[in-house]
Order: sequence, then structure tokens, then C-alpha cells
Amino acid sequence: MSRADEFRLMKARGEKLVVLTAYDAPTARAEVEAGVDIIMVGDSVGTNVLGYASEREVTLADMAHHIAAVRRGAPGAYIIGDLPFATYETAGEARESAARLAAAGADCVKFEGARPQIVRALKDAGHDVCCHIGLESQHQAGKRRQGQTAAAAARLLADALALDEAGQDFIVLELIPRELAARITQALRASTIGIGAGAQCDGQVLVVHDLAALGTRDFKHNRRYGEIGAALRGAVAAYARDVREGRFPAEEHGFSLAPDELAAFEK
Ligand code: KIV
Ligand code: NA
Repeated sequence: MSRADEFRLMKARGEKLVVLTAYDAPTARAEVEAGVDIIMVGDSVGTNVLGYASEREVTLADMAHHIAAVRRGAPGAYIIGDLPFATYETAGEARESAARLAAAGADCVKFEGARPQIVRALKDAGHDVCCHIGLESQHQAGKRRQGQTAAAAARLLADALALDEAGQDFIVLELIPRELAARITQALRASTIGIGAGAQCDGQVLVVHDLAALGTRDFKHNRRYGEIGAALRGAVAAYARDVREGRFPAEEHGFSLAPDELAAFEK
């Protein structure tokens, strides 16, 4: 049974999929140790780690670099990697880009938008595929909530069904009404992974920088389970104080020349 089949069994049994982003080896290791089911190396690496103004600046090389780091930190994890903006314009380009992420260590590739022909191309090339509809950060600016009219909701449901028909393994539902996400989850063979899409999805994903308050952003869909940013600032401030006041380093942080070497050195 493939790993994607195992995740589908979890859907059938009603076991929730715990998905979380990671962009580096130690974070990935911590997530595996804490029991995360799937690590997502999202193009959110751009704004959370690389200092870019938007996801659109993220390149395939950036994604490969961070997927490889996560793979080194979590050798056995199931990793979903994002195809960045404008790297899957055609079926051929999508296949080439996906091959690059798979070579870096991705088990599954994710892309944004209702494009069943891209799902088919990637499945034919042997990739596990995660789709992503609702808020598409690569393609939409401004309004974050999606599917808020009956017509828009019906369109997203139809998109999800078409992607399922094409063979997707997972689909991220971002910032859509909970009733719509529940309906899509019931209708699909693929596992739905929600973010700001209610509790009825097969799984949930958050950005680890949001969950642990490592970044500066705060979102209605997020819950802060830690205060890593505050802890880091506190640790750095204490270090700076100690250096300036001569309290760091202490004796135990260094070492001396052996007495005979010292005597010879000082001659
Ligand atoms: O890039 C990302 O982190 C994502 C998740 C929020 C789904 O696409
Ligand atoms: Na993303």
C-alpha cells in the first residue's frame, strides 16, 4: 500500500490528518518527534523565512533547497512540497518542476488552482498530488475569504470534484466557509486539508511560524500554541546584557593553556 493509500484509509476511518509546515531540518525533526503526520514545505517559506514580500518571489531553487533540508531533518516523514508561482504553466513544465522537488525529497507536490489537466500530467509522471483551492496566495491578492456566495461555493465544489476526478491525492481548502468545506470533504475520495475552513475537513494544516508565534503575523484562522518569537527575543536580550556587563562568557565556557605551555608561551 502506498503512503497516499494509508492517508486515504485514515479518511475512511475518520482519523484526522495533522499537517504542519516546516522549512528547515531541526523544525522538521521536532515535528516528527511531536507526532505530525505530514510535513508541508510551503511557498510560505518566502514570507516566513526568506524575507520576501510575497510568495510570488519564491523560486524552484528555493523550494528544492528547503525541501532537502526538511528531508535531512526528517528522513522518514511524508513531505508535501509547493510548486512555486509560474512553474506549472504547462503540463510539461509542471512535470519538470515536480521532478526537481521530488529529487530534493518531496513525496508529493502541491499546486494552486482548478487545473485537472495538471493533476493528470503529474499523476501520469508518477507523483502524488495535492491540490489547493479557495485562497490561492500565488494568484489572488486582496480579499482573503473565498466561496462566500452560493454561486462561488458551487464553483469551488465543482472545481474540487473535477480535481478529484483527475486523481488528486489531497486538497488544501484555504479560507472557505465551513459548510462548503464539509460538503467538499464528504464528496471527495481525496483527503481534504483545511486552513481556516472549519473542523469537518479530513485534516488541518497551519504555518508553524503562526502556530508558534515566531513571525509577526496573526490570523483569525490560527491558534498560538507557543510564543517562540518572544522567547527568542528574551534569550537574545539576556545574552546582549551579559556580554556588555562581562557576565558572559564565564570560566566554564573557555579553556586554558596547560601550565607548562603557558610558561613557555609567556617567556
Ligand atoms: O505555503 C503554505 O504554507 C501553504 C499552506 C498554508 C497550505 O500553502
Ligand atoms: Na503555499
